[in-house]
Amino acid sequence: MSLLLVFLVLPLLSCSISLSSSAELHSLNKRSYLSPEKPEDHLVSPNRVFSSGFLPVGENAYCFAIWFNNPASSEPHKPIWIANRNQPVNGKLSKLSISNSGNVILTDAEQSIVWSSCSSSLLPVRLSINDKGNLVLRSSENVTLWQSFDSPTDTLLPNQPFTRHTTLVSFRSESNYSNGFYKLYFDNDNVLRLLYDSADVSSIYWPDPWLLTWDTGRSTYNNSKIAMFDDFGYFVSSDHLEFFASDYGVGVRRRLTLDTDGVLRMYSLEGKSGRWVVSWQAQPDPCRAHGVCGPNSLCDYYHGSGRRCSCIPGFKMVNAMDWSSGCEPEQRPICNDDISKVKFVRQNHVEFFGFDYDYYPNYTLESCKKICLESCTCKGFLYKLENGVYKCHLKSLMINGKHSPNLLGTIYAKIKLSTSSNRVKENKLECFGQATHKLNRTYEKKHESDVVNALLYFGCAIGGTEIVCIISVCLFLSRKQEGSGAAERGYLVAATGHRRFTFEELKKATKGFCEEIGKGGSGIVYKGMLPSHGVVAVKRLDEASIAEDVFLAEVSTIGRLNHMNLINMLGYCAEGKHRLFVYDYMQNGSLADNLSSNALDWDKRFKIAVGTARGLAYLHEECLEWILHCDVKPQNILLDSNYQPKVADFGLSKLLSKGGMNNSGFSRIRGTEGYMAPEWFSNQSISSKVDVYSYGIAMLEMVTGKNPTSIFAFDDREDAKKMSLVTWVREKLETGVSASSLRMEDVFDPAVDAYYDVKKIEILVKVALQCVEENKDARPTMRKVVDMLLLDENEK
Ligand SMILES: *[C@@H]1O[C@H](CO)[C@@H](O)[C@H](O)[C@H]1NC(C)=O
Ligand SMILES: *[C@@H]1O[C@H](CO)[C@@H](O)[C@H](O)[C@H]1NC(C)=O
Ligand SMILES: *[C@@H]1O[C@H](CO)[C@@H](O)[C@H](O)[C@H]1NC(C)=O
Ligand SMILES: *[C@@H]1O[C@H](CO)[C@@H](O)[C@H](O)[C@H]1NC(C)=O
Ligand SMILES: *[C@@H]1O[C@H](CO)[C@@H](O)[C@H](O)[C@H]1NC(C)=O
Ligand SMILES: *[C@@H]1O[C@H](CO)[C@@H](O)[C@H](O)[C@H]1NC(C)=O
Ligand SMILES: *[C@@H]1O[C@H](CO)[C@@H](O)[C@H](O)[C@H]1NC(C)=O
Ligand SMILES: *[C@@H]1O[C@H](CO)[C@@H](O)[C@H](O)[C@H]1NC(C)=O
Ligand SMILES: *[C@@H]1O[C@H](CO)[C@@H](O)[C@H](O)[C@H]1NC(C)=O
Repeated sequence: MSLLLVFLVLPLLSCSISLSSSAELHSLNKRSYLSPEKPEDHLVSPNRVFSSGFLPVGENAYCFAIWFNNPASSEPHKPIWIANRNQPVNGKLSKLSISNSGNVILTDAEQSIVWSSCSSSLLPVRLSINDKGNLVLRSSENVTLWQSFDSPTDTLLPNQPFTRHTTLVSFRSESNYSNGFYKLYFDNDNVLRLLYDSADVSSIYWPDPWLLTWDTGRSTYNNSKIAMFDDFGYFVSSDHLEFFASDYGVGVRRRLTLDTDGVLRMYSLEGKSGRWVVSWQAQPDPCRAHGVCGPNSLCDYYHGSGRRCSCIPGFKMVNAMDWSSGCEPEQRPICNDDISKVKFVRQNHVEFFGFDYDYYPNYTLESCKKICLESCTCKGFLYKLENGVYKCHLKSLMINGKHSPNLLGTIYAKIKLSTSSNRVKENKLECFGQATHKLNRTYEKKHESDVVNALLYFGCAIGGTEIVCIISVCLFLSRKQEGSGAAERGYLVAATGHRRFTFEELKKATKGFCEEIGKGGSGIVYKGMLPSHGVVAVKRLDEASIAEDVFLAEVSTIGRLNHMNLINMLGYCAEGKHRLFVYDYMQNGSLADNLSSNALDWDKRFKIAVGTARGLAYLHEECLEWILHCDVKPQNILLDSNYQPKVADFGLSKLLSKGGMNNSGFSRIRGTEGYMAPEWFSNQSISSKVDVYSYGIAMLEMVTGKNPTSIFAFDDREDAKKMSLVTWVREKLETGVSASSLRMEDVFDPAVDAYYDVKKIEILVKVALQCVEENKDARPTMRKVVDMLLLDENEK
């Protein structure tokens, strides 16, 4: 048997490799390499606990990894660290080598570099694994050039520091070691958190997001962002999180792993059986991890038998092998379909977290159903008794569903009438619900004809630890009982879908900020393209204008807003002096762009008026904080493909608390000339009525097609008389009254096609005129505006 390793034996180097027939090596040097063709060749730590080498992860697919040697167990080794987990290499012609320049390189057979340590040294170097499980590259001067402890995969070992620069990311499944959906990291506020981060959704689920940080026993004050556990199994973090392993004491092998089901667990190795048993777990109920069963499904947790996922009645599994894709309607309801073809299926004793696009307290079931039926966005609603009144939470996505006999909510899911809804499918989650299947990487066979048959199959080893896990949960987490009050608050602060981008990412996405699509009071908006989201709008705030903490506070407020008539924020960036927001891109532009377009008929214009009013009403009344927009104008009313308006550019004005409101909070006048309420120019206090005024002006502009910023002649024949848009409309209507009949049509934009329901537009003009009253107390609230606009419809 020929040895694969080629050594450049330098006299300087004290080479400690034993060239015996044993394939266990202690170190690698420059120009030596390891190959998956000889997977038995691997590095071993001096205490023989850890190994590093090529692990088979599928047919003809290998990863360069570190694992625990577990002589008592016959199961395949499970990696605790992987070099580029997303790209396994070919079993033939791949290798891990150290270049002459001191760089550790993993090459695939196709000759591409899959991973490198990015280190360099002209001195001789040595790659070895130490007794702690750290794979270290050192120079002959004993300088650490690179170490695996700096880039953990999904597992942390004793004495391995977890810092602001490191994250743990779960495996995709028990058999697929690619990046999964769950992430442990230090957040901007110095708190260690768990995040569910899929392509469409990103939400924090640990510590419980509805609790204030100090209620969870964490602290935000220490920004050293460091955590570690010691050889005794004592974990401590700079945010005051601390815990002890249930088998606290020295001499036990332990690891802290973020499992594929989103639960962070500490495991201890049982020497005799060679099994890993859970000695601590972050949350007692695995159903609390977000996204576990995917959308449109329910998660049940049974003590003893573990977790189960099931579809909501009338829905079926998307991918029978993988619950993370959740369920889909058996028959997809068509939007704007005849209401009579849609029905609701109900399921009692459930809770759904997040994605409430609207919320109505004290609503009857019938009115709740009615609102949901009328909206395309509504996929269903949660109806729940809270503090003595029934509340209606409209859902744009039914995700994070839980089922348990003591939950009080009922979900009503919208399905097609013809769907049978009596079947309830329930599938037990095998191995924490992840499909076990082999990686399928096929390569062109180059020289050899023999196929390395290395299937990786992890059985339900972890399933066996369930009982231990329940016991430890009872011991250590019994005080963390689910409080129904806490769950209620969860609905208010459901943080959904915002993620942090790096400036580089956004610069790349916008091709260096080249395509400008808009300009707001606070910055310029660019068009961009993100691999994860497609086309997006990136707003770059004027540099250095906002301190990072102020900015992050506003981000968290904006991130909590979720309404179909508000533009959806996808993410943000706060890096150095850069402050950016990433929003959904609205291809059909703003109301301002389309005012002169004939495509916007009166019916659509009326819908835009109602939708905009709803969005503003939500900002003013229904959110946690009272948010004034302060710059309502057609440029900030964007249109989606259904001409549904989305209000943009909110949340950037100073947030005012509902109590003690006065205008001392505003250092300067905000808004756009022509749309600004008279309060701005006097020393009256600023209230939500400034937005009502601007809304009124914008609506008059939409109806008349006349720009409010220009002052124009009342009548072509009367040359002397010049006035504002408001006065023009008022006088026009007054002269109309004194004439033979009310000539409401006189104010309508003649460019828009004549066919329309005149009555609706008349109502809109009357409401708009109330909104632009000089006296702010005479103006209605935005909620009242919505009611007045819809009065006619509701009476029908
Ligand atoms: C090299 O440095 C490590 C830690 O930096 C130390 O533990 C080790 O003893 C040193 N080895 C030599 C030969 O100096
Ligand atoms: C912050 O946390 C670190 C690590 O836990 C600790 O050493 C340090 O003393 C803490 N700093 C303060 C100001 O508490
Ligand atoms: C709920 O609505 C009913 C009827 O509109 C009203 O009588 C009742 O006072 C309301 N309850 C609360 C708590 O607002
Ligand atoms: C493993 O997961 C990744 C990420 O979801 C996916 O792209 C890849 O196809 C999966 N591999 C297999 C063999 O399923
Ligand atoms: C692997 O992929 C190849 C081509 O993509 C396909 O022909 C083959 O059936 C797959 N094997 C398995 C086991 O899925
Ligand atoms: C609205 O305006 C935008 C930008 O000018 C344009 O791209 C879009 O096609 C317009 N929509 C309609 C329906 O005219
Ligand atoms: C823009 O509006 C038109 C209707 O005029 C619609 O057909 C199209 O799908 C819209 N495009 C987008 C991206 O919303
Ligand atoms: C406005 O609020 C500030 C601070 O809350 C207070 O000092 C000031 O007296 C208030 N002004 C008025 C006119 O109420
Ligand atoms: C502002 O308020 C003061 C006292 O409240 C009053 O004397 C003054 O005339 C006001 N100024 C304007 C422009 O209304």
